[in-house]
Amino acid sequence: MSKRPFKNRLNDLDPKSWLKFQKSWFLHNPPPRRKDVLRHPAKFPETLVQEFIEFFTKRGQVVFDPMIGTGSTLVAALRAGRNSYGIELNPDYADIARQVISDERAALQISQEQCTATVITGDAANIANLIRTNNIPSIDYMITSPPYWNMLHARGAQTQKSRSEDPGMDQFYSEDAKDLGNIEIYEDFLEQLVEIYISLKPYFVPRAYLTIIVKNIKKGGKIYPLAWDLAKQLSRSYTLKDERIWVQDNQRLMPYGFGNAWVSNTFHHYCLQFRNE
Ligand SMILES: C[S@@+](CC[C@H](N)C(=O)[O-])C[C@H]1O[C@@H](n2cnc3c(N)ncnc32)[C@H](O)[C@@H]1O
Repeated sequence: MSKRPFKNRLNDLDPKSWLKFQKSWFLHNPPPRRKDVLRHPAKFPETLVQEFIEFFTKRGQVVFDPMIGTGSTLVAALRAGRNSYGIELNPDYADIARQVISDERAALQISQEQCTATVITGDAANIANLIRTNNIPSIDYMITSPPYWNMLHARGAQTQKSRSEDPGMDQFYSEDAKDLGNIEIYEDFLEQLVEIYISLKPYFVPRAYLTIIVKNIKKGGKIYPLAWDLAKQLSRSYTLKDERIWVQDNQRLMPYGFGNAWVSNTFHHYCLQFRNE
Protein backbone atom coordinates (compact mmCIF):
# COMPACT_ATOMS: atom_id res chain seq x y z
CA MET A 1 0.00 0.00 0.00
CA SER A 2 1.11 3.62 -0.62
CA LYS A 3 3.24 5.31 2.03
CA ARG A 4 1.48 8.65 1.48
CA PRO A 5 -0.79 9.76 4.37
CA PHE A 6 -4.34 8.52 3.85
CA LYS A 7 -6.60 11.53 3.24
CA ASN A 8 -10.21 10.41 3.41
CA ARG A 9 -12.84 12.80 2.06
CA LEU A 10 -15.62 10.25 1.64
CA ASN A 11 -16.03 8.31 4.88
CA ASP A 12 -14.57 7.60 8.33
CA LEU A 13 -12.93 4.26 7.47
CA ASP A 14 -9.31 3.33 8.00
CA PRO A 15 -7.31 2.32 4.88
CA LYS A 16 -7.67 -1.43 5.56
CA SER A 17 -11.47 -1.28 5.81
CA TRP A 18 -11.64 0.95 2.71
CA LEU A 19 -9.62 -1.56 0.67
CA LYS A 20 -11.75 -4.48 1.87
CA PHE A 21 -14.91 -2.84 0.53
CA GLN A 22 -13.34 -2.40 -2.92
CA LYS A 23 -13.77 -6.06 -3.88
CA SER A 24 -16.43 -6.20 -6.61
CA TRP A 25 -18.33 -9.09 -4.94
CA PHE A 26 -19.09 -10.13 -1.40
CA LEU A 27 -20.78 -12.99 0.39
CA HIS A 28 -23.46 -12.01 2.88
CA ASN A 29 -25.96 -14.50 4.28
CA PRO A 30 -28.74 -12.60 6.05
CA PRO A 31 -28.84 -13.24 9.83
CA PRO A 32 -32.20 -14.45 11.27
CA ARG A 33 -34.88 -11.71 11.24
CA ARG A 34 -36.83 -10.49 14.26
CA LYS A 35 -40.39 -11.84 14.30
CA ASP A 36 -42.35 -8.67 13.45
CA VAL A 37 -40.39 -7.97 10.24
CA LEU A 38 -40.83 -11.55 8.96
CA ARG A 39 -44.23 -10.45 7.65
CA HIS A 40 -42.49 -8.44 4.88
CA PRO A 41 -41.70 -10.67 1.87
CA ALA A 42 -38.36 -9.17 0.76
CA LYS A 43 -36.12 -7.31 3.12
CA PHE A 44 -32.39 -6.68 2.90
CA PRO A 45 -30.19 -7.23 5.99
CA GLU A 46 -29.31 -4.20 8.15
CA THR A 47 -25.79 -5.62 8.55
CA LEU A 48 -25.23 -5.38 4.78
CA VAL A 49 -26.74 -1.89 4.47
CA GLN A 50 -24.61 -0.61 7.34
CA GLU A 51 -21.41 -1.53 5.47
CA PHE A 52 -22.55 0.50 2.45
CA ILE A 53 -23.62 3.47 4.57
CA GLU A 54 -20.28 3.48 6.36
CA PHE A 55 -18.43 3.47 3.04
CA PHE A 56 -20.46 6.15 1.25
CA THR A 57 -20.99 8.65 4.10
CA LYS A 58 -19.39 10.19 7.15
CA ARG A 59 -20.98 10.30 10.62
CA GLY A 60 -23.84 12.80 10.83
CA GLN A 61 -24.58 12.85 7.08
CA VAL A 62 -28.01 12.22 5.54
CA VAL A 63 -29.10 8.83 4.15
CA PHE A 64 -32.35 8.36 2.20
CA ASP A 65 -34.43 5.38 1.02
CA PRO A 66 -37.62 5.97 -1.04
CA MET A 67 -39.00 2.46 -0.31
CA ILE A 68 -38.01 1.38 3.19
CA GLY A 69 -40.24 -1.65 3.75
CA THR A 70 -39.81 -2.41 7.46
CA GLY A 71 -37.01 0.11 7.87
CA SER A 72 -33.68 -1.74 7.44
CA THR A 73 -31.95 1.32 5.94
CA LEU A 74 -32.99 3.54 8.83
CA VAL A 75 -31.94 1.00 11.47
CA ALA A 76 -28.55 0.59 9.77
CA ALA A 77 -28.13 4.38 9.56
CA LEU A 78 -28.94 4.73 13.26
CA ARG A 79 -26.34 2.10 14.13
CA ALA A 80 -23.81 3.97 11.99
CA GLY A 81 -24.65 7.38 13.51
CA ARG A 82 -26.08 8.84 10.29
CA ASN A 83 -29.35 10.78 9.98
CA SER A 84 -31.92 9.06 7.82
CA TYR A 85 -35.28 9.52 6.11
CA GLY A 86 -37.41 6.95 4.34
CA ILE A 87 -40.70 6.58 2.52
CA GLU A 88 -42.99 3.54 2.49
CA LEU A 89 -46.35 3.12 0.76
CA ASN A 90 -47.80 0.37 2.95
CA PRO A 91 -48.84 1.96 6.29
CA ASP A 92 -48.48 -1.38 8.12
CA TYR A 93 -44.82 -1.70 7.08
CA ALA A 94 -44.23 1.96 7.97
CA ASP A 95 -45.64 1.27 11.46
CA ILE A 96 -43.43 -1.81 11.87
CA ALA A 97 -40.45 0.33 10.79
CA ARG A 98 -41.31 2.97 13.44
CA GLN A 99 -41.47 0.26 16.12
CA VAL A 100 -38.21 -1.39 15.03
CA ILE A 101 -36.46 2.00 15.04
CA SER A 102 -37.84 2.88 18.45
CA ASP A 103 -36.55 -0.44 19.88
CA GLU A 104 -33.17 0.16 18.24
CA ARG A 105 -33.00 3.68 19.73
CA ALA A 106 -33.67 2.27 23.18
CA ALA A 107 -30.99 -0.41 22.75
CA LEU A 108 -28.41 2.10 21.45
CA GLN A 109 -29.58 4.91 23.76
CA ILE A 110 -29.68 7.44 20.93
CA SER A 111 -32.32 10.17 21.01
CA GLN A 112 -34.16 11.65 17.99
CA GLU A 113 -32.24 14.92 18.60
CA GLN A 114 -28.88 13.13 18.41
CA CYS A 115 -29.73 11.25 15.22
CA THR A 116 -32.97 11.30 13.28
CA ALA A 117 -34.53 8.24 11.61
CA THR A 118 -37.76 9.52 10.10
CA VAL A 119 -40.38 7.25 8.52
CA ILE A 120 -42.83 8.88 6.09
CA THR A 121 -45.90 6.99 4.92
CA GLY A 122 -46.50 7.91 1.28
CA ASP A 123 -46.15 7.22 -2.41
CA ALA A 124 -42.61 7.61 -3.76
CA ALA A 125 -44.15 8.86 -6.99
CA ASN A 126 -44.81 12.13 -5.05
CA ILE A 127 -41.24 12.32 -3.86
CA ALA A 128 -40.68 16.04 -4.45
CA ASN A 129 -43.77 16.92 -2.40
CA LEU A 130 -42.89 14.54 0.41
CA ILE A 131 -39.33 15.88 0.64
CA ARG A 132 -40.52 19.47 0.81
CA THR A 133 -43.39 18.96 3.26
CA ASN A 134 -41.23 16.88 5.62
CA ASN A 135 -38.28 19.32 5.48
CA ILE A 136 -35.83 16.63 4.42
CA PRO A 137 -32.37 18.19 4.08
CA SER A 138 -30.05 17.60 1.10
CA ILE A 139 -29.31 13.92 0.69
CA ASP A 140 -25.71 12.65 0.96
CA TYR A 141 -26.45 9.04 0.03
CA MET A 142 -29.34 6.85 -1.14
CA ILE A 143 -29.47 3.10 -0.64
CA THR A 144 -32.63 1.26 -1.64
CA SER A 145 -34.17 -1.82 -3.15
CA PRO A 146 -37.33 -1.64 -5.28
CA PRO A 147 -39.97 -4.32 -5.80
CA TYR A 148 -38.53 -6.80 -8.30
CA TRP A 149 -41.36 -5.95 -10.71
CA ASN A 150 -44.43 -8.13 -9.94
CA MET A 151 -42.40 -11.25 -9.11
CA LEU A 152 -44.12 -11.75 -5.76
CA HIS A 153 -47.28 -12.54 -7.76
CA ALA A 154 -45.51 -15.35 -9.66
CA ARG A 155 -47.16 -18.63 -8.84
CA GLY A 156 -45.00 -21.60 -7.92
CA ALA A 157 -42.14 -19.72 -6.28
CA GLN A 158 -41.10 -21.87 -3.32
CA THR A 159 -41.06 -19.04 -0.77
CA GLN A 160 -44.53 -17.92 -1.91
CA LYS A 161 -45.90 -21.43 -1.37
CA SER A 162 -44.75 -21.59 2.23
CA ARG A 163 -45.85 -17.97 2.87
CA SER A 164 -49.38 -18.73 1.57
CA GLU A 165 -49.73 -21.34 4.32
CA ASP A 166 -48.95 -18.85 7.12
CA PRO A 167 -51.50 -16.06 7.78
CA GLY A 168 -48.83 -13.95 9.55
CA MET A 169 -46.77 -13.66 6.37
CA ASP A 170 -47.56 -11.38 3.42
CA GLN A 171 -47.16 -12.82 -0.07
CA PHE A 172 -47.23 -9.34 -1.71
CA TYR A 173 -46.46 -5.86 -0.43
CA SER A 174 -50.05 -4.63 -0.81
CA GLU A 175 -53.16 -4.54 -3.02
CA ASP A 176 -52.57 -0.83 -3.68
CA ALA A 177 -52.54 0.21 -7.36
CA LYS A 178 -49.74 2.68 -6.52
CA ASP A 179 -47.54 -0.22 -5.35
CA LEU A 180 -44.91 -0.72 -8.07
CA GLY A 181 -44.96 -4.45 -7.27
CA ASN A 182 -48.51 -4.62 -8.70
CA ILE A 183 -47.75 -3.24 -12.18
CA GLU A 184 -48.47 -5.85 -14.81
CA ILE A 185 -46.40 -4.65 -17.76
CA TYR A 186 -42.62 -4.69 -17.29
CA GLU A 187 -42.00 -1.56 -19.40
CA ASP A 188 -44.57 0.44 -17.38
CA PHE A 189 -42.98 -0.72 -14.13
CA LEU A 190 -39.50 0.22 -15.34
CA GLU A 191 -40.63 3.65 -16.54
CA GLN A 192 -42.30 4.53 -13.22
CA LEU A 193 -39.36 3.28 -11.17
CA VAL A 194 -36.83 5.22 -13.26
CA GLU A 195 -39.00 8.33 -12.97
CA ILE A 196 -38.90 8.10 -9.15
CA TYR A 197 -35.10 7.88 -9.02
CA ILE A 198 -34.65 10.66 -11.58
CA SER A 199 -37.06 12.99 -9.77
CA LEU A 200 -34.76 12.77 -6.73
CA LYS A 201 -31.85 14.39 -8.56
CA PRO A 202 -32.38 17.99 -7.28
CA TYR A 203 -32.34 16.77 -3.67
CA PHE A 204 -28.89 15.13 -3.69
CA VAL A 205 -25.73 17.00 -2.76
CA PRO A 206 -23.28 17.22 -5.68
CA ARG A 207 -21.28 13.98 -6.01
CA ALA A 208 -23.62 12.02 -3.73
CA TYR A 209 -23.60 8.27 -4.31
CA LEU A 210 -26.69 6.10 -4.95
CA THR A 211 -26.86 2.33 -4.41
CA ILE A 212 -29.76 0.32 -5.87
CA ILE A 213 -29.96 -3.35 -4.92
CA VAL A 214 -31.75 -5.36 -7.57
CA LYS A 215 -31.86 -8.63 -9.51
CA ASN A 216 -32.46 -9.50 -13.13
CA ILE A 217 -35.81 -11.24 -13.35
CA LYS A 218 -36.84 -14.58 -14.87
CA LYS A 219 -40.49 -14.93 -15.76
CA GLY A 220 -42.25 -17.39 -18.06
CA GLY A 221 -38.94 -18.60 -19.51
CA LYS A 222 -37.89 -15.04 -20.37
CA ILE A 223 -35.25 -12.81 -18.79
CA TYR A 224 -36.19 -9.23 -17.93
CA PRO A 225 -32.81 -7.60 -17.25
CA LEU A 226 -34.01 -5.16 -14.58
CA ALA A 227 -30.52 -4.48 -13.23
CA TRP A 228 -29.08 -3.78 -16.67
CA ASP A 229 -32.12 -1.73 -17.78
CA LEU A 230 -31.86 0.43 -14.67
CA ALA A 231 -28.11 0.85 -15.15
CA LYS A 232 -28.67 2.04 -18.71
CA GLN A 233 -31.70 4.26 -18.14
CA LEU A 234 -30.44 5.96 -14.99
CA SER A 235 -27.17 6.77 -16.74
CA ARG A 236 -29.15 9.58 -18.42
CA SER A 237 -29.17 11.42 -15.08
CA TYR A 238 -26.41 9.93 -12.93
CA THR A 239 -22.96 8.52 -13.65
CA LEU A 240 -22.88 4.73 -13.47
CA LYS A 241 -19.94 3.66 -11.29
CA ASP A 242 -20.30 -0.09 -11.86
CA GLU A 243 -21.63 -2.67 -9.44
CA ARG A 244 -20.85 -4.82 -6.42
CA ILE A 245 -22.30 -8.29 -6.53
CA TRP A 246 -23.97 -9.61 -3.39
CA VAL A 247 -23.79 -13.39 -3.26
CA GLN A 248 -25.94 -15.54 -0.97
CA ASP A 249 -24.71 -19.04 -0.29
CA ASN A 250 -27.27 -20.45 2.12
CA GLN A 251 -30.23 -21.18 -0.16
CA ARG A 252 -31.47 -24.57 -1.28
CA LEU A 253 -30.68 -25.45 -4.91
CA MET A 254 -33.80 -26.25 -6.96
CA PRO A 255 -33.67 -28.53 -10.05
CA TYR A 256 -35.20 -26.01 -12.51
CA GLY A 257 -35.05 -27.33 -16.10
CA PHE A 258 -33.33 -30.48 -14.76
CA GLY A 259 -31.97 -32.72 -17.55
CA ASN A 260 -33.55 -30.48 -20.13
CA ALA A 261 -32.49 -26.84 -20.14
CA TRP A 262 -30.17 -24.30 -18.51
CA VAL A 263 -32.03 -22.42 -15.79
CA SER A 264 -29.84 -21.02 -13.03
CA ASN A 265 -30.63 -20.68 -9.36
CA THR A 266 -30.09 -16.94 -8.97
CA PHE A 267 -28.30 -16.40 -5.69
CA HIS A 268 -26.84 -12.97 -6.46
CA HIS A 269 -28.08 -9.39 -6.47
CA TYR A 270 -26.53 -6.37 -8.19
CA CYS A 271 -25.71 -3.44 -5.92
CA LEU A 272 -25.63 -0.80 -8.67
CA GLN A 273 -23.50 2.23 -7.90
CA PHE A 274 -24.27 5.66 -9.34
CA ARG A 275 -22.92 9.12 -8.56
CA ASN A 276 -24.67 12.48 -8.84
CA GLU A 277 -22.10 14.14 -11.13
C1 LIG B 1 -37.95 -4.73 -1.83
S1 LIG B 1 -39.03 -3.94 -0.73
C2 LIG B 1 -37.96 -2.95 0.25
C3 LIG B 1 -37.49 -3.68 1.45
C4 LIG B 1 -36.62 -2.86 2.36
N1 LIG B 1 -35.35 -2.57 1.76
C5 LIG B 1 -36.40 -3.63 3.68
O1 LIG B 1 -35.29 -4.05 3.93
O2 LIG B 1 -37.40 -3.82 4.41
C6 LIG B 1 -39.85 -2.74 -1.70
C7 LIG B 1 -40.83 -1.87 -0.91
O3 LIG B 1 -41.34 -0.86 -1.79
C8 LIG B 1 -42.63 -0.52 -1.32
N2 LIG B 1 -43.30 0.24 -2.40
C9 LIG B 1 -43.87 -0.22 -3.54
N3 LIG B 1 -44.37 0.78 -4.27
C10 LIG B 1 -44.12 1.94 -3.58
C11 LIG B 1 -44.39 3.31 -3.83
N4 LIG B 1 -45.04 3.72 -4.93
N5 LIG B 1 -43.99 4.22 -2.90
C12 LIG B 1 -43.32 3.82 -1.76
N6 LIG B 1 -43.06 2.54 -1.48
C13 LIG B 1 -43.43 1.59 -2.38
C14 LIG B 1 -43.26 -1.87 -0.98
O4 LIG B 1 -44.35 -1.74 -0.08
C15 LIG B 1 -42.05 -2.60 -0.36
O5 LIG B 1 -42.06 -2.51 1.05
